[in-house]
Amino acid sequence: MVQAGSPQPEDGKTGILLVAFGTTFSEAQASFDNIEAGIKSAFADTTIQWAYTSEMIRNKMAQQGKTAHSPSQALKEMAEQDFTKIFVQSLHTIAGYEYHDLVKTIRKFEHHAGGVKKITISGPLLAGPEDMAKAARAIHDTIPEKRASDEAVVLLGHGTHHPSNAAYPALMWRLQRDDKNIFMGTVEGFPGPEEILEQLEKNNISTAWLMPFMSVAGDHARNDMAGDGEDSWKSVFNDAGIDCKPVLKGFAEYDPFVDIWVSQLQTAMEK
Ligand code: CO
Repeated sequence: MVQAGSPQPEDGKTGILLVAFGTTFSEAQASFDNIEAGIKSAFADTTIQWAYTSEMIRNKMAQQGKTAHSPSQALKEMAEQDFTKIFVQSLHTIAGYEYHDLVKTIRKFEHHAGGVKKITISGPLLAGPEDMAKAARAIHDTIPEKRASDEAVVLLGHGTHHPSNAAYPALMWRLQRDDKNIFMGTVEGFPGPEEILEQLEKNNISTAWLMPFMSVAGDHARNDMAGDGEDSWKSVFNDAGIDCKPVLKGFAEYDPFVDIWVSQLQTAMEK
């Protein structure tokens, strides 16, 4: 006999699917661990699964013997495991190609979702004006205390050719209302290191803290930002007489950023 109030088998299970680009840097795993810890403490009774949108990363992870599902593989598996409600959380930074591909995958999945009755997507980090404001606050709160106000903080976003690249300069505008020496550049979009250097020179900056505005401090942070190659941001700024202090931490290593994703998931679950 089934007791009243206890979950019936036909109620099925609720799951969270966390979807990130992925990383193969073992040092960057700290970000994923911190995300998982934050989500787990907010949703203690809910199963958490992971998927990675980058095929290149998935292949590398598989070679290292790690489970590396694509979003569609993970969704299929969750349906087979009798999950009836799935809350997908994009751990991307902006709503670029990776995020929109994920939305497409979910739409496709909805058509032959088996027993899955409800599937939602929330995120990415900069999903709307409120999240932008929260992210700006989180940035101000995680700048190293040793940084003096006449020293610049240069954040490096990933950047993209997708129109959502506009989120980076939009966030910079917001940051500079409170601190004129914070800058936001991108590795693969606009503005790049030369444009940021122009601004640093305008503000007579002699020291710049370099911080990745990427969830993990992986290849871009270690090489494009802080590497010794002549094209790295550190080298470009050094050549212009600016001393650089790189911080090799992804933003997902800091709780205030993970909290943004947690509150997006909470909103999705309450709907
Ligand atoms: Co990249």
